[in-house]
Amino acid sequence: MKFFAVLALCVVGAIAAPLTADEASLVQSSWKQVSHNEVDILAAVFAAYPDIQAKFPQFAGKDLASVKDTAAFATHATRIVSFLSEVIALSGNPSNAAAVGALVSKLGSDHHARGVSAAQFGEFRTALVSYLSNHVSWGDNVAAAWNKALDNTMSIAVAHL
Ligand code: HEM
Repeated sequence: MKFFAVLALCVVGAIAAPLTADEASLVQSSWKQVSHNEVDILAAVFAAYPDIQAKFPQFAGKDLASVKDTAAFATHATRIVSFLSEVIALSGNPSNAAAVGALVSKLGSDHHARGVSAAQFGEFRTALVSYLSNHVSWGDNVAAAWNKALDNTMSIAVAHL
């Protein structure tokens, strides 16, 4: 019995802790402050990490300034931001955990097919957090909530790359 209790603790310990309702609401309210800045967010990611831009056939080898105002750029920026908005809207409710897992696993396997690396997902995360810290009301509690949310989801996505 004791053995199973310890085993259960180990298994639970290996699974990321879900966001509390308070953490989810910090992530949701800060995301609301920037989620209309789709183009700006993707441009910040590409500016910080040109190797990410280079993976897009339609943007590779082009000046960021020359593609930033195109319809193709807006379309892709909206896809990424909408994906994040969908996952963020589901967070904070344990009954949505399976849906989040399915979305994020699929994101990973779709990007595996494109040759995207775990290191590039890490770059994306760094650029996103940097953008957030400069554009939303930021503090230790908001940073901690975002880090937990990104630890939980990025680990699933990267496992499917
Ligand atoms: C980190 C490096 C990444 C690279 C190099 C990358 C690259 C790409 C490429 C080349 C496409 C196809 C674009 C097209 O066919 O027009 C794509 C699609 C997409 N990406 Fe990414 N991506 C990255 C990270 C992410 C992340 C972190 C997210 C979500 C937060 C994301 C969300 C999407 C979505 C929603 C699509 C459109 C749906 C699909 O085709 O799968 N991407 N990505």
